[in-house]
Amino acid sequence: MHRVLIAAIALVLASSPGRAQQDSLSRGEQDFRACAPCHSLEPDRNMTGPSLANLWGRKAGSLPSFDRYSEALKASGIIWDDLSLDAWLTAPERMVPDNIMPFEGIKGARTRADLLAFLKEATKPGAGPQQMAQSGMGGMMRGMMGGGRVPNLKSLQPSERVTRITHCRDTYRVTTADGKTRPFWERNLRLKTDSSKEGPERGVAAIVPAGMMGDRADLIFSAPDEISNMIEQRC
Ligand code: HEC
Repeated sequence: MHRVLIAAIALVLASSPGRAQQDSLSRGEQDFRACAPCHSLEPDRNMTGPSLANLWGRKAGSLPSFDRYSEALKASGIIWDDLSLDAWLTAPERMVPDNIMPFEGIKGARTRADLLAFLKEATKPGAGPQQMAQSGMGGMMRGMMGGGRVPNLKSLQPSERVTRITHCRDTYRVTTADGKTRPFWERNLRLKTDSSKEGPERGVAAIVPAGMMGDRADLIFSAPDEISNMIEQRC
């Protein structure tokens, strides 16, 4: 008797629309982890791909702050809505041949529906991560941002702040503000720039570990000219 009652309650709970919608949103949030390395939900915070904030109703390839759209996407004439986004996420290359989004598509219709349900909420005007944090969706958004978040290089730990770089034969030696010097085989150190407001100050380079083995790192400068300025040829 008890069991029947519990089963009945469970059935009612599971089929109530609010609950089903919540489940879909949280599955969609998980699915967004496939996108988060390349796309943020903060307005104008662009990474490999354009920010997806305020996506619904936007013309494809039209975000003024994003400089790397393909000609194909810009010329597509698509307006992003439930239908066009579903087609894009099913098979980007079929919908817009020669686009440059490195993503093969999502086969499952249910997965796409969950992802779009989440995105529709999370990209609404004013729904950016900061605002969401105050409205109780914070946990959700913080979890999600984890995937795509790059560290802000304006505030560096001593172990991340590079004070000296020398190059000798096939080796870079990188000294950090905590006094440590580490050698790197020159093919294991990647030299990058970040000119955004989250990049390092001029004259400062940041070192960020890369890969799992501890033998690789990224050195990030504020501008290209800083790279050769800061590297001393010395054995
Ligand atoms: C490896 C990086 C990468 C991944 C992963 C990725 N994208 Fe993209 N995305 C891009 C790039 C680059 C573009 C620009 C494509 C172009 O201009 O042809 C883009 C474009 C878009 C656009 C068009 C935006 C506009 O302003 O017109 C949408 C929508 C989009 N992506 C959604 C997604 C979603 C949702 C996911 C996850 C399922 C995803 N993308 C995964 C890199 C990525």
